[in-house]
Amino acid sequence: MSESAHGAEAGNGPFPVVIAGTGAYAPARVLTNRDLERMVHTTDEWIVARTGMRERRVAADGEFTSDMAAEAGRRAIADAGLDPAAIDLVLLATITPDLPFPNTACLAQGKLGAKNAVCIGLEAACSGFVFALEAARAFVASGAWRNILVIGAEKMSAVLDWSDRSTCVLFGDGAGAAVVQRGRRGRGIIGSVLGSDGSLSDLLQIPAGGCRRPASAATVAAGEHALRMNGREVFRHAVTTMTRAAREIMDRHGLRTDDIRWVIPHQANMRIIRAVAARLAIPESRFVINVERYGNTSGASVGLALDEAVRDGRIREGDTVMLLVFGGGFTWGAMLLEWGGAK
Ligand code: UT7
Repeated sequence: MSESAHGAEAGNGPFPVVIAGTGAYAPARVLTNRDLERMVHTTDEWIVARTGMRERRVAADGEFTSDMAAEAGRRAIADAGLDPAAIDLVLLATITPDLPFPNTACLAQGKLGAKNAVCIGLEAACSGFVFALEAARAFVASGAWRNILVIGAEKMSAVLDWSDRSTCVLFGDGAGAAVVQRGRRGRGIIGSVLGSDGSLSDLLQIPAGGCRRPASAATVAAGEHALRMNGREVFRHAVTTMTRAAREIMDRHGLRTDDIRWVIPHQANMRIIRAVAARLAIPESRFVINVERYGNTSGASVGLALDEAVRDGRIREGDTVMLLVFGGGFTWGAMLLEWGGAK
């Protein structure tokens, strides 16, 4: 695993790196478990018992990842009290880009009018938002950029096989965003522990559409442009790896579970969240959970949940918050924040 403790250093040094504003967007269309019962051989009871999900959002036909990203980004910029022109970098994580290229950060930038921003796309599946936050933290700390718009956005509905009940019930669409900049007080982003293991990439992927298997009539006929997952294996790795990452970052910063006010886990499955909570001995009531309403929105999930918990007043100035993610790659990470401290 790679580790950073720059925030802690920054806290004692010249400035902390903070999240100055958050925003989120979820499409209007709601797809319930009952709706899915009419589409594939499944039941509301199975989905709720195995995943905790009750409904998810699905983007409209003409609504793309860049549209959701731009709206979440616009809201985060407004929340930070900035004008879009003040953003100098858009860092967007997605596995469902509008196009193979140009990157979706460019497309979102054009839509939200962040005309002075450089645009970088980043792909780390369900860990994307936290990987992008860590990159933003490093860029701000180095002085390379000042006001970074981090976005995790996904149109998962576009990469699902809607006849495969083992995957199509699990995912949803949406976007979450945060503005990262130098703060004035507090510790901001305290540090992170991130990791990746490419030897397990076969367990969760979209097999075709890249240079290994370019799109062809055969790849389309074989359904290889849809997400494929070995659910049981991914589940097992997610629980052990998220637990390990959480313990590592708490050890590194000398924190005990009681010091963590909120955990914002990737919203993949209620059973994964419960298993991690039990292993860490952190009460479920201190986890921010919205998987029942949005399903698994991959790279958008932590951004969506963070914005929700900030907006409804659960996360307050001074709270210690842990973001905890796991996804395809495999990729994973834990990030500690001390909330607040913006200008
Ligand atoms: O976002 C990052 C990564 N993703 C995840 O973290 C997801 C990780 N995996 C999971 O959350 C779970 O493995 C699933 C929710 C995907 C599946 O739950 P499970 O308890 O592991 O079920 P299973 O795959 O072992 O399947 C149990 C049974 C199977 O039937 P048989 O073979 O026992 O007869 C499946 O065919 O459930 C069946 N099944 C379904 N039944 C009704 C699978 N999907 C459905 C469905 N409705 N939608």
